[in-house]
This record gives sequence, C-alpha cells and structure tokens, in this order.
Amino acid sequence: MAASARAFVLRHTRLRPVPDIEGIRLHLADEVLPLWHATQVETGDDDAPLPYWAFAWAGGLAIARHLEAHPEAVAGRRVFDIGSGSGLVAIAALRAGATEATAADIDSYAAAAIPLNARANRQRVAVIHRDVLDEDPPDVDVILAGDCWYEVSLATRIVPWLAQAHDRGIDVLLGDPGRRYLPADGLVERATYEVRTTTELEDMDQKRARVLAFAVNRPGAGR
Ligand SMILES: C[S@@+](CC[C@H](N)C(=O)[O-])C[C@H]1O[C@@H](n2cnc3c(N)ncnc32)[C@H](O)[C@@H]1O
Repeated sequence: MAASARAFVLRHTRLRPVPDIEGIRLHLADEVLPLWHATQVETGDDDAPLPYWAFAWAGGLAIARHLEAHPEAVAGRRVFDIGSGSGLVAIAALRAGATEATAADIDSYAAAAIPLNARANRQRVAVIHRDVLDEDPPDVDVILAGDCWYEVSLATRIVPWLAQAHDRGIDVLLGDPGRRYLPADGLVERATYEVRTTTELEDMDQKRARVLAFAVNRPGAGR
C-alpha cells in the first residue's frame, strides 16, 4: 500500500507554494470531488475519507503562520502534529526550529503524503499512521492540532486528549477557522490570521482563522 499510496499522491497533486507562507511547498490538489472519486476507485471503498491530505486547511495555515511569527513556540522543542493531513504544521514547526516533529494521521494517503511533503521542504518528519487518541499523549514538548473540529466524532475525542496533554504540562496549540465543533469554553485566543484558502473547501477563498490554547483555569481541569 505504501508505494502505491505514494504513487497515487504524486499522480493526483502538484508541488506548489503555500499562500502567504514563505518557502513551504506541498503536493496539493485543485479539486476535492474528482480526487475523492479517484480515491474511492483506487481503494474500492465508497466510504473512503475525503482527501484532506491534498489541501492546506485554514486551521493548519493559521498555525503555520503563527510559528513563522513566533518561532519561540517550538524552537529547540519536540513537536507532535495531530491530524496532520499534508504535514504542513509539522513542516512549519521544523522550519521554525523544532528539534524533531512527529505527524499522526489515520489516513493512508496522508501517511504517504507527509514524507513526500517533508522531503520537498528538506525536512524529516516521523509519521505515525494509527489512531493515537485512545493512547496517552506522547512524550513531547508541544502538540499542534490544525483544523480538527469539522466533525463531531473527531472533535469529541481530540479535545479531552489535548486537554490531558495540557494538564501534563505539554504546550498545546489549536488552529481553527470557526468550525462547528470547536468547544466554546476553556480556550484562549493567541492570534488571528487571514488565510488564503480555496472555495473547493470553504464558502470563501479567504478565512479568518485563530490560534488557540487551553485556558489555565479551563472548566474540568484537574478532574
Ligand atoms: C481537515 S484535516 C487538517 C489537516 C492539517 N492539520 C491542516 O490543517 O491542513 C484533518 C485531518 O485529521 C485526520 N484525522 C481524523 N481523525 C483522526 C485521528 N483519530 N487521528 C489522527 N488524525 C485524524 C484526517 O485524516 C485529516 O487528515
């Protein structure tokens, strides 16, 4: 699967710059639905996930911009990018000076795309291709989560996992453009960015996306 997934990623994407993020290039697609259909045909699975990995999502773009502006958030530190998709956030962390970056995603094509994208940016990202949300948070200094609040099933699992990491002293940053399932309480805004995206994914090609952290006195802390 790994070699054919790599070939599939290369066949259906083009290496191109990420808007407003100096120096990062990713293997990206133009259109969601034809690629989703190609994924369904390739895998023989009508329920194949959308090709999240072939786009830079607004939440991840906000984190990448934030790390460009505030490299001290990750410089000299070990970083974990959960729901990594293309690997954009992990790559941005390494470019900002992280000592190592691990990217986790459950999608086989994301697991193939991340090393390709890392290599295109002369970086090395370790990839975990399994669902880590039932495990303890990893032994790292910083966890970054870009655009993981678009569906209730992921949102309800990732929030307690990130909160647990925060309670253990890991710095956690979330990137979000106002998705439906982002918790309304317990988070504080660190920054807001206007990010350029695509109407293939969003209602507008520009979105306001926030970088957030857990509030020190968030509801439920210490339970
Ligand atoms: C909207 S994409 C965001 C990708 C990237 N962070 C960005 O901002 O461009 C969400 C990603 O979360 C991944 N995902 C969903 N459930 C997951 C889980 N349980 N563990 C890890 N990744 C998961 C999906 O496969 C998808 O790649």
